[in-house]
Amino acid sequence: MKAIACAILISATAVLPALAQDISAGERSWNKCRACHQTGEGAKNLVGPQLNGLFGRHSGSVEGYSYSAANKNSGISWDEATFAEYIKDPKAKIPGTKMIFAGIKNEQEIKDLTAFLKQFGQDGKKL
Ligand code: HEC
Repeated sequence: MKAIACAILISATAVLPALAQDISAGERSWNKCRACHQTGEGAKNLVGPQLNGLFGRHSGSVEGYSYSAANKNSGISWDEATFAEYIKDPKAKIPGTKMIFAGIKNEQEIKDLTAFLKQFGQDGKKL
Protein backbone atom coordinates (compact mmCIF):
# COMPACT_ATOMS: atom_id res chain seq x y z
CA MET A 1 0.00 0.00 0.00
CA LYS A 2 2.81 2.32 0.97
CA ALA A 3 4.61 1.57 -2.27
CA ILE A 4 1.52 2.47 -4.29
CA ALA A 5 1.05 5.76 -2.49
CA CYS A 6 4.69 6.51 -3.07
CA ALA A 7 4.44 5.71 -6.77
CA ILE A 8 1.41 7.98 -7.10
CA LEU A 9 3.24 10.80 -5.37
CA ILE A 10 6.26 10.47 -7.60
CA SER A 11 4.23 10.39 -10.78
CA ALA A 12 2.13 13.34 -9.61
CA THR A 13 5.19 15.49 -9.00
CA ALA A 14 6.64 14.41 -12.33
CA VAL A 15 3.46 15.21 -14.25
CA LEU A 16 2.13 18.32 -12.53
CA PRO A 17 4.89 20.80 -13.38
CA ALA A 18 4.70 19.63 -16.99
CA LEU A 19 1.00 20.54 -17.18
CA ALA A 20 1.18 23.90 -15.48
CA GLN A 21 1.87 27.05 -17.42
CA ASP A 22 4.93 28.84 -16.17
CA ILE A 23 5.01 32.59 -16.84
CA SER A 24 8.66 33.02 -15.93
CA ALA A 25 9.68 30.19 -18.27
CA GLY A 26 7.48 31.90 -20.86
CA GLU A 27 9.36 35.14 -20.33
CA ARG A 28 12.63 33.35 -21.10
CA SER A 29 11.09 31.92 -24.25
CA TRP A 30 9.89 35.43 -25.19
CA ASN A 31 13.57 36.32 -25.66
CA LYS A 32 13.27 34.51 -29.00
CA CYS A 33 10.61 37.01 -30.12
CA ARG A 34 11.94 40.28 -28.72
CA ALA A 35 14.16 41.15 -31.64
CA CYS A 36 10.99 41.60 -33.69
CA HIS A 37 8.05 42.05 -31.29
CA GLN A 38 7.13 44.15 -28.27
CA THR A 39 4.46 43.69 -25.65
CA GLY A 40 3.48 45.63 -22.54
CA GLU A 41 2.63 49.31 -22.05
CA GLY A 42 3.80 51.51 -24.90
CA ALA A 43 4.66 48.50 -27.08
CA LYS A 44 5.54 49.53 -30.62
CA ASN A 45 5.50 47.74 -33.93
CA LEU A 46 9.04 46.69 -34.84
CA VAL A 47 9.92 44.17 -37.54
CA GLY A 48 6.69 42.46 -36.44
CA PRO A 49 3.48 43.90 -34.92
CA GLN A 50 3.12 44.52 -31.18
CA LEU A 51 1.48 41.55 -29.48
CA ASN A 52 -0.70 43.14 -26.77
CA GLY A 53 -4.08 41.48 -26.28
CA LEU A 54 -3.12 38.85 -28.85
CA PHE A 55 -5.63 36.25 -27.71
CA GLY A 56 -8.96 37.27 -29.17
CA ARG A 57 -7.35 39.38 -31.89
CA HIS A 58 -7.80 38.72 -35.59
CA SER A 59 -4.70 38.07 -37.68
CA GLY A 60 -3.43 41.19 -39.36
CA SER A 61 -5.37 43.65 -37.20
CA VAL A 62 -2.77 45.91 -35.57
CA GLU A 63 -3.21 49.44 -36.88
CA GLY A 64 -0.21 51.02 -38.50
CA TYR A 65 1.57 47.74 -39.11
CA SER A 66 2.16 46.66 -42.69
CA TYR A 67 1.30 42.96 -42.80
CA SER A 68 1.88 40.56 -45.66
CA ALA A 69 -1.27 39.73 -47.62
CA ALA A 70 -0.81 36.14 -46.43
CA ASN A 71 -1.13 37.12 -42.78
CA LYS A 72 -3.91 39.66 -43.35
CA ASN A 73 -6.02 37.26 -45.37
CA SER A 74 -5.42 34.17 -43.28
CA GLY A 75 -8.72 34.64 -41.42
CA ILE A 76 -7.24 33.42 -38.16
CA SER A 77 -8.54 34.46 -34.76
CA TRP A 78 -5.76 34.06 -32.30
CA ASP A 79 -6.59 31.70 -29.48
CA GLU A 80 -4.49 29.10 -27.69
CA ALA A 81 -5.02 26.47 -30.38
CA THR A 82 -4.33 28.64 -33.44
CA PHE A 83 -1.36 30.28 -31.73
CA ALA A 84 0.13 26.88 -30.80
CA GLU A 85 -0.17 25.65 -34.38
CA TYR A 86 1.28 28.86 -35.77
CA ILE A 87 4.25 29.15 -33.45
CA LYS A 88 5.25 25.52 -34.07
CA ASP A 89 5.79 26.32 -37.73
CA PRO A 90 4.67 29.80 -38.86
CA LYS A 91 5.19 29.12 -42.56
CA ALA A 92 3.07 25.96 -42.45
CA LYS A 93 0.14 27.71 -40.75
CA ILE A 94 0.39 30.89 -42.87
CA PRO A 95 2.15 30.09 -46.14
CA GLY A 96 3.76 33.29 -47.42
CA THR A 97 4.08 34.98 -44.01
CA LYS A 98 6.97 37.38 -43.69
CA MET A 99 7.71 36.24 -40.16
CA ILE A 100 11.06 34.50 -40.47
CA PHE A 101 11.07 32.17 -37.52
CA ALA A 102 11.82 28.45 -37.46
CA GLY A 103 9.21 27.73 -34.81
CA ILE A 104 9.03 26.28 -31.31
CA LYS A 105 8.43 22.54 -31.26
CA ASN A 106 8.31 21.97 -27.50
CA GLU A 107 4.68 21.84 -26.29
CA GLN A 108 5.57 22.94 -22.78
CA GLU A 109 7.49 25.94 -24.05
CA ILE A 110 4.50 26.94 -26.18
CA LYS A 111 2.23 26.73 -23.12
CA ASP A 112 4.61 28.84 -21.07
CA LEU A 113 4.92 31.42 -23.82
CA THR A 114 1.12 31.50 -24.12
CA ALA A 115 0.83 32.19 -20.38
CA PHE A 116 3.38 34.99 -20.70
CA LEU A 117 1.56 36.65 -23.61
CA LYS A 118 -1.88 36.25 -22.01
CA GLN A 119 -0.86 38.62 -19.23
CA PHE A 120 -1.10 41.65 -21.49
CA GLY A 121 -4.43 43.29 -22.35
CA GLN A 122 -5.13 45.39 -25.45
CA ASP A 123 -3.59 48.45 -23.78
CA GLY A 124 -0.48 46.53 -22.76
CA LYS A 125 -1.41 46.60 -19.07
CA LYS A 126 -1.19 43.35 -17.19
CA LEU A 127 -4.67 41.87 -16.75
C1 HEC B 1 12.75 37.83 -37.25
C2 HEC B 1 11.60 38.53 -36.73
C3 HEC B 1 10.55 37.78 -35.96
C4 HEC B 1 10.71 36.93 -34.90
C5 HEC B 1 12.01 36.44 -34.25
C6 HEC B 1 9.37 36.58 -34.46
N1 HEC B 1 8.43 37.19 -35.25
FE1 HEC B 1 6.41 37.06 -35.07
N2 HEC B 1 6.16 38.21 -36.72
C7 HEC B 1 7.19 38.79 -37.46
C8 HEC B 1 6.65 39.47 -38.61
C9 HEC B 1 7.46 40.21 -39.66
C10 HEC B 1 5.25 39.28 -38.55
C11 HEC B 1 4.21 39.76 -39.56
C12 HEC B 1 3.91 38.59 -40.47
C13 HEC B 1 3.25 38.94 -41.77
O1 HEC B 1 2.71 40.05 -41.95
O2 HEC B 1 3.27 38.04 -42.64
C14 HEC B 1 4.97 38.48 -37.35
C15 HEC B 1 3.71 38.09 -36.95
C16 HEC B 1 3.44 37.41 -35.77
C17 HEC B 1 2.12 37.07 -35.29
C18 HEC B 1 0.81 37.40 -35.97
C19 HEC B 1 0.31 38.71 -35.38
C20 HEC B 1 -0.95 39.26 -35.99
O3 HEC B 1 -1.31 40.38 -35.58
O4 HEC B 1 -1.58 38.61 -36.83
C21 HEC B 1 2.29 36.45 -34.09
C22 HEC B 1 1.20 35.89 -33.20
C23 HEC B 1 3.71 36.37 -33.83
N3 HEC B 1 4.38 36.96 -34.87
C24 HEC B 1 4.26 35.82 -32.69
C25 HEC B 1 5.64 35.65 -32.51
C26 HEC B 1 6.22 35.03 -31.34
C27 HEC B 1 5.44 34.56 -30.14
C28 HEC B 1 7.57 34.97 -31.54
C29 HEC B 1 8.63 34.34 -30.67
C30 HEC B 1 8.47 32.95 -30.34
C31 HEC B 1 7.84 35.59 -32.83
N4 HEC B 1 6.64 36.00 -33.38
C32 HEC B 1 9.09 35.75 -33.38
C33 HEC B 1 8.54 38.73 -37.16
C34 HEC B 1 9.12 37.93 -36.18
